[in-house]
Amino acid sequence: MSYTLVTGGSRGLGFECAKALRALGRTVVLVAKDESRLKGAAAELDCEYRSVDLEDLGAARETFTEILERLGPPETLILAHGVMSEKFAKTLRTTNEEWRRVMAINLDSVFCAVNILGKPMADARSGRVIIFSACLGRMSGPGTAGGLAPYRVSKAGVNALVRNLAHETSHGARGFLIDAVCPNHSRTDMGGPDAPLSAAEGASTAIWLATRAFDASSSDDQERLTGLLWEERQVVPW
Ligand SMILES: NC(=O)c1ccc[n+]([C@@H]2O[C@H](COP(=O)([O-])OP(=O)(O)OC[C@H]3O[C@@H](n4cnc5c(N)ncnc54)[C@H](OP(=O)(O)O)[C@@H]3O)[C@@H](O)[C@H]2O)c1
Repeated sequence: MSYTLVTGGSRGLGFECAKALRALGRTVVLVAKDESRLKGAAAELDCEYRSVDLEDLGAARETFTEILERLGPPETLILAHGVMSEKFAKTLRTTNEEWRRVMAINLDSVFCAVNILGKPMADARSGRVIIFSACLGRMSGPGTAGGLAPYRVSKAGVNALVRNLAHETSHGARGFLIDAVCPNHSRTDMGGPDAPLSAAEGASTAIWLATRAFDASSSDDQERLTGLLWEERQVVPW
């Protein structure tokens, strides 16, 4: 079965990605934690869903394995789940529990999803993985000013994971694409009501990555490059 799996699909940017892909006629499977919210989102989009607390790595592994066994590997995997760290979570003031919570959800479960679902995609030399990172996880440019330590470090870890796996899979030359996306500050529960971008605008680069033409021999960078961090459809430095 050809389908797109969207984590964080119950609301915010994940929901916007799922909605846009449904509108293009794609089969979509949503994953998130809160079952009743997820059920409502799935009903709105007329798609399947599976609820799991991705903070629990064992449960995450079980759920992704069950989806793989039932549906086969996804054609596209969009990882749009995530949590912000507590407001004053500076490195020297963060508890073990807060560090672990954010790392588990934002990074460990991303590894787990890619490890389980990305492997058969890469083996089949087909498919694309798009992971929501953040400019707060970059090591250069804006957003590197400190604070929100677990969140920033988890997203820097996501960036490193994408770059590493892109090298391991030959940067798209073998038919498997993996990219990170920075949505910019968007109006979602995480981004808040005063963010400059709508959720649809924040999701647009991820949707484009999920649907763009790709040809490793193209002379057009937007069709040729993968294994990178994208913002507004442009490559930005890590
Ligand atoms: N919004 C922004 O301005 C912004 C900026 C930069 C990067 N990002 C990144 O973009 C992604 C999407 O953000 P958003 O703004 O759409 O966030 P959001 O509105 O807060 O939605 C978060 C999503 O993640 C899911 N989730 C959270 N904890 C989970 C858990 N333990 N298990 C399973 N699912 C869980 C939520 O599911 P439930 O509904 O079940 O809780 C929800 O679907 C995140 O990775 C975020 O870091 C966002």
